[in-house]
Amino acid sequence: MRERLQELKSEALEKIKHSSNLKELNDLRVSYLGKKGPITEVLRGMGKLSAEERPKIGALANAIRESISEVITEKRSELEKAAVQKKLEAETIDVTLPGRPVKRGSRHPLTKMIEEVEDLFIGMGYKVAEGPEVEIDYYNFEALNLPKGHPARDMQDSFYITEDLLMRTHTSPVQARTMEKHKGKGPVKIICPGKVYRRDNDDATHSHQFTQIEGLVVDENITMADLKGTLEVFAKKIFGEDREIRLRPSFFPFTEPSVEMDISCKICGGEGCRVCKQTGWIEILGAGMVHPNVLRMAGFDPEKYTGFAFGMGPERIAMLKYGIDDIRHFYTNDIRFLQQFSVQE
Ligand code: PHE
Repeated sequence: MRERLQELKSEALEKIKHSSNLKELNDLRVSYLGKKGPITEVLRGMGKLSAEERPKIGALANAIRESISEVITEKRSELEKAAVQKKLEAETIDVTLPGRPVKRGSRHPLTKMIEEVEDLFIGMGYKVAEGPEVEIDYYNFEALNLPKGHPARDMQDSFYITEDLLMRTHTSPVQARTMEKHKGKGPVKIICPGKVYRRDNDDATHSHQFTQIEGLVVDENITMADLKGTLEVFAKKIFGEDREIRLRPSFFPFTEPSVEMDISCKICGGEGCRVCKQTGWIEILGAGMVHPNVLRMAGFDPEKYTGFAFGMGPERIAMLKYGIDDIRHFYTNDIRFLQQFSVQE
């Protein structure tokens, strides 16, 4: 019996040593140490033994069980460690592999155009001013020398919310608001970008909502020469040093005299082509000397102060600068259009 037990022990230890996974090891544990296992089986024959022998065999059987159990525990932790190691090896990450490229958006071409113009004027000492898009009739029209019933209101067909409240048709109301805040004291030097609205049918050159950038300078001794010099710097910086400008007489109720500025056509160099409609010139913006009535209504003394103002459409400027043929491209957000501008970041 003693020998049989010793045999079972070495058999078990041998099998445990060679077991290659946790499942196999567990099966061995059940089979050797379980109630139906060979050790229990051997012990069943204990009845035949002498009273002297019995406890000795019992002790031996327990010792064997214990050592088998110890070896199993050791083997288990060995197998577990190996399993973790294997898993780690299978999951190693090659940190030198190139990453997947992340698709990046870019700023909208219109935003970029506005910022380019803003930067230019900030560089000349202008401050950026803003005003509400839902505007009262007073600032959108009346304070700009366009009283109720004035025929020039027709130039800017509007979206009215109430009789007295409308979507602003231009950024010029910010002129009136800013001047009012200065309480009759100059200098005022602002640039005002923003959205404006008109009741137009959308087509390649019209949109019911578009953007404008307004400029306003009010101080003592501001003359038309200051306006012309400023517009010349603007045109050359934005469109190129080789561009010429010309001022044509025009009409805006809030400026007197009023002008429109053209730049020489880059495509034909002034010879006349399709883009400049054979004139050699391209219209860029409206401007003029602030009307004395406008100064007065905003609290400035027109005997002491003069000023100039200009208003431009960044869409139009971007269209001319980049050869964009339809204003609707700016609002429909076709990724193929937008992507063409991201490379310039
Ligand atoms: N507000 C004018 C427009 O929308 C543009 C402009 C601004 C003209 C300032 C002169 C001076 O047409």
